[in-house]
Amino acid sequence: MNPESVKSLKVGICGLGTVGGGTFALLQNNQDEIRARLGCDIEVVAIASRNLDAANWPGVSQAASDVFAVVNDEAVDIVVETLGGFDPAFEVVRQALANGKHVVTANKALIAERGSELFPIAHKHGVCLAYESAVAGGIPIIKALREGLAANRIEWLAGIINGTGNFILTEMAAHGRQFDDVLQQAQALGYAEADPALDVEGIDAAHKLSIMAAIAFGIPLQFHKTYTEGISHITPEDIDYAAELGYRIKHLGIAKLSAQGVELRVHPTLISKKRLLANVDGVGNAVVVHGNAVGSTLYSGPGAGAEATASAVVADIIDIGRAMLAGLEQPLLPALGFQSLRGEIPVLDIEEIVSEYYLKISAQDKVGVMAKISNLLQQHAISIEAVIQKEAVSESVPIVILTHSAVEKQLNQAIAAIENLEDVNGAVMRIRVESFGGK
Ligand SMILES: NC(=O)c1ccc[n+]([C@@H]2O[C@H](COP(=O)([O-])OP(=O)(O)OC[C@H]3O[C@@H](n4cnc5c(N)ncnc54)[C@H](OP(=O)(O)O)[C@@H]3O)[C@@H](O)[C@H]2O)c1
Repeated sequence: MNPESVKSLKVGICGLGTVGGGTFALLQNNQDEIRARLGCDIEVVAIASRNLDAANWPGVSQAASDVFAVVNDEAVDIVVETLGGFDPAFEVVRQALANGKHVVTANKALIAERGSELFPIAHKHGVCLAYESAVAGGIPIIKALREGLAANRIEWLAGIINGTGNFILTEMAAHGRQFDDVLQQAQALGYAEADPALDVEGIDAAHKLSIMAAIAFGIPLQFHKTYTEGISHITPEDIDYAAELGYRIKHLGIAKLSAQGVELRVHPTLISKKRLLANVDGVGNAVVVHGNAVGSTLYSGPGAGAEATASAVVADIIDIGRAMLAGLEQPLLPALGFQSLRGEIPVLDIEEIVSEYYLKISAQDKVGVMAKISNLLQQHAISIEAVIQKEAVSESVPIVILTHSAVEKQLNQAIAAIENLEDVNGAVMRIRVESFGGK
């Protein structure tokens, strides 16, 4: 494209639901601001979505139900993919890139699971594939990792990156409600998917975590190696016991780089109440990134919703527009894709990690049970930091233990031995504790 001749950037949007519709509205509502910033107009010239009523989308010359009409529209410079899922989203993005069009997507599943197939196509055709809105909605975390923190060796990052899960844990903590009850409310409010597994089992968070880790550490996208554990087994009692010990329970995505490899894990986590991250409530998202030069920085804000997510989609469009106007599209590519800074580096198995742990054991109300439990922990090189022993409920008494750091494999062996004790009823509840290098 000859930058001199650009009067307006031509955008096509595939998928006019929450994010696509929000993007259309934001481009219209803030057009004066955007024009002033960018130096030219952004025009939506083509849209496609199922059951589209063209009357609802004024000023668009092409409105279709077939998304490939946008992908093959010669007038379109930038395709926005806000369909979700893989089919037809993958083919839409692939064909758009192959047709020499830049693509902006909000689709974290697509980037996390199939990005490594798509970035080489973008590179081959000299176009950009941008995905700021795919991680933490409106929070510009991709830009922060890629640009603001580019001088750092990033050592770890941790975040609340699924608003639905955070809403559920917040409600459980505030009102002592059960998981299932709050999940139903989250679905009624439109926060949770009809199939909530993506949210509450940590899959959505694992998509986002694997994308952030790839940029932060310069490693390949490794969603399939990310350990995921959901929050459905957390009870209001666990939240209360954690609070007694000075902690809150959050569903965290954690990525750490060490000499042994990289940790990629999503699971419920106890965090000290004093940490800012522990106090991010409701549907909010927040990510802490620790760089070796800057230390810890925190990014928080709305992780979902039409306007917040559109804010990130439009920021990507503006970035690409600036590069187009400057004739710099090709140099943007390595920065937008995933750069390999370290080559092959192993992703550690969850049994190899070292963490502190919260354990809840239901034991019979007999003399000597606590001694047997602490003996078994000691035999596996696990020391106890704190204990809460409650009043007996019928025959059984809940024992809550906070351990010092231990290797997870040894902790698992200790738990198996504790569960084998005659005086212990049922499974031991285990939740990892994260101290981020200090309490
Ligand atoms: N919602 C958020 O807050 C948020 C935040 C960050 C990222 N994202 C990501 O953004 C993407 C879109 O999410 P969304 O919440 O906007 O979803 P959505 O509201 O369901 O919108 C998707 C739109 O695409 C249409 N569509 C889907 N498949 C189609 C096909 N084959 N042909 C034509 N139209 C098709 C849908 O039509 P129907 O309505 O008929 O199905 C719907 O209008 C997803 O990847 C999501 O993970 C969403």
